[in-house]
Amino acid sequence: MKLAIDGGTPVRDTQARPWPGWPVWDEREEQALLEVLRSGRWGIWDGSRGERFAETFARFQGAEYGVVNTNGTAALEIALRAAGLQMGDEVIVPPYTFIATASAVLMTNGVPVFADIDPDTYNLDPKAAEAAITPRTRAIIAVHIAGCPADMDALTALAYDNSLILIEDCCQAHAAEWGGRKVGSIGDMGAFSFQSSKNLNAGEGGIVVTNSREYYERCWSIVNVGRAIGGAWYDHPFLGSNYRMTEFQAALLEAQFTRLPEQTEHRWRNAQILNHRLADIPGIRPMKVDERVTVHACHLYVFRVDESAPGGMTRARFIEALNAEGVPCSAGYVPLYRNHLFRTHNTVAATRMDYAKLRLPVAERACDHEAVWLAQPMLLGTPEDVQDIVDAVAKVQRAAVG
Ligand SMILES: Cc1ncc(COP(=O)(O)O)c(C=O)c1O
Repeated sequence: MKLAIDGGTPVRDTQARPWPGWPVWDEREEQALLEVLRSGRWGIWDGSRGERFAETFARFQGAEYGVVNTNGTAALEIALRAAGLQMGDEVIVPPYTFIATASAVLMTNGVPVFADIDPDTYNLDPKAAEAAITPRTRAIIAVHIAGCPADMDALTALAYDNSLILIEDCCQAHAAEWGGRKVGSIGDMGAFSFQSSKNLNAGEGGIVVTNSREYYERCWSIVNVGRAIGGAWYDHPFLGSNYRMTEFQAALLEAQFTRLPEQTEHRWRNAQILNHRLADIPGIRPMKVDERVTVHACHLYVFRVDESAPGGMTRARFIEALNAEGVPCSAGYVPLYRNHLFRTHNTVAATRMDYAKLRLPVAERACDHEAVWLAQPMLLGTPEDVQDIVDAVAKVQRAAVG
């Protein structure tokens, strides 16, 4: 069958049958936003929604405390500051993630140390993380990439054995569970994003969740210009900034949150069908899901193409062809350490960390040759939508084989 990229008929006519849209909203959001508008209580200090949502979401993720803030990038910076990161402290991070995981370390005067990822999950490889520990290591950031929990058994043990702080980057992993425990509450602190592409969305927004009263109080102060909980308005015993979210964001989050459990189940169900069906197509390898992953948040659906399979279609050509078949997809990240930032930043220069020489082969293979991403709204579709993805992948792959 002729590929759409070569003038054939696409598997899916996206004009006639568009993919599910994002965000999903209705009168719940309208009502909540209007209530805030009409109340005149627009700031988190004026209203009660921000605090209420912080508690609801923290409890949902299995944590005692939550501090809402402006975005996931800020949430990571707040968590690192609350952890007491000092100038030059090393923080182990994976290279296969959004820039914020590593830039938050630089913003708090630390040094990101990249450790390679697991080839089957693209999450931080605990063995590589262990090998990256030095006397200057202070913390590890475990990213639950694409919504798939990292190996929290191994990473918790590693952090404990080496007296390291373990921060979870849960920006893609709302509702995800490892061994029946929700992410964010397994390490010392968990940082979430509510940016517009995320599975829980307020346009922008973030939260740090924790079971530690001490970390909670520190995060609260950092978000609230260094005030102390219960302290006077113009008393600032600590160094902080203004990272507060508004009541409008909290209102959206409360409304969006009512949909999160059902949407999570829906995505995960469709992702499992895809994992099963794509595994039958030669040259296509779905990501592996550890049996301790009890809920995968499926912020992205990621699978691997094998450029060396018969036919030898490059990943770039595969992605072009799949897009032409009406299945929007992309290649995703570059290894973070290739960004110019890591050649020039003064903290990095001061510590003589030479990222230009760094080679992490698993991350490089994933970024340069292997990974294909589908965005989360596509997983909110029908069984027919799922089958279109399978049919399009099979068609492109058959053409590669010839
Ligand atoms: C893994 C990861 N970490 C951090 C962030 C930063 O979140 P935000 O965009 O809310 O600043 C994102 C979001 O893009 C992310 O995907």
